[in-house]
Amino acid sequence: MSRSAEDLAALIRARAGAAPLRLGLVLGSGLGHIAGAVEGAAIPYADLPGFPHAGVSGHSPVLAVGMLEGVRVAVFGGREHYYEKGRPDAMRLPLAVLKALGAEAVILTNAAGSLVPGRGPGSLMLLSDHINFSGLNPLIGEASDARFVPMTAAHDPGLRAGLSAAAAAEGLALPEGVYAWYSGPSFETPAEIRAIRILGADAVGMSTVPEVILARFLGLRVAAVSVITNMAAGLSDEQISHEHTKAMAPLGAEKLERVLRRFLRGLAER
Ligand code: HPA
Repeated sequence: MSRSAEDLAALIRARAGAAPLRLGLVLGSGLGHIAGAVEGAAIPYADLPGFPHAGVSGHSPVLAVGMLEGVRVAVFGGREHYYEKGRPDAMRLPLAVLKALGAEAVILTNAAGSLVPGRGPGSLMLLSDHINFSGLNPLIGEASDARFVPMTAAHDPGLRAGLSAAAAAEGLALPEGVYAWYSGPSFETPAEIRAIRILGADAVGMSTVPEVILARFLGLRVAAVSVITNMAAGLSDEQISHEHTKAMAPLGAEKLERVLRRFLRGLAER
């Protein structure tokens, strides 16, 4: 049986210390490396009842809690995606635990396909907004009026400004764009990609949007960064596959890590 967020927070404090957290980081496919840089406790999800058993290769199901660049963080080495078990709210408990541990904000990362020519594999995109192309919602079934979450400025302007400034200080391009959530696990068809391009999407992926909704529901500020691993279906000759995603993620992961570290150093000074 899964436990409450408060119970799990107590369990994590017992292993990682009681000082409150400032920030959470959720790592996408092939981006798990940064979890290893946290100075503190590494707690397997398997020790945290109700945490997802992230079953996708390229994710490592460990929660790292401790210091990174002078900021007390929790880094989620993996997430459960909707397509794994059909649960759009799979990340609700982990994000609620983050809130219970005192965090004010969470930065989500993901691997995504690009719809914009010139923004190819290895580039980064800061989400300015998103399109829920799945029609699913992690708050379906939530009974309280809190379920009516405003999503107008869901992608926090202050966090985005901080991430943009960090990228600029590193000399890295971090264009903003709109991310479309497609349920997966099959990739999109070229016709679907043409359709979401017309709808206003700049990148497409299989995660993040439910977590943005859940974070706002829980009162966490949220921002998200995509590592582009491929041009979306029909936009290039490359073969799209999960293997390709994992192979290309490190190209952008190194840049993402520089942006995140610089962003954290800025936070540490405040
Ligand atoms: N589509 C959906 N998800 C993805 C892609 C894509 O092209 N690339 C990496 N994750």
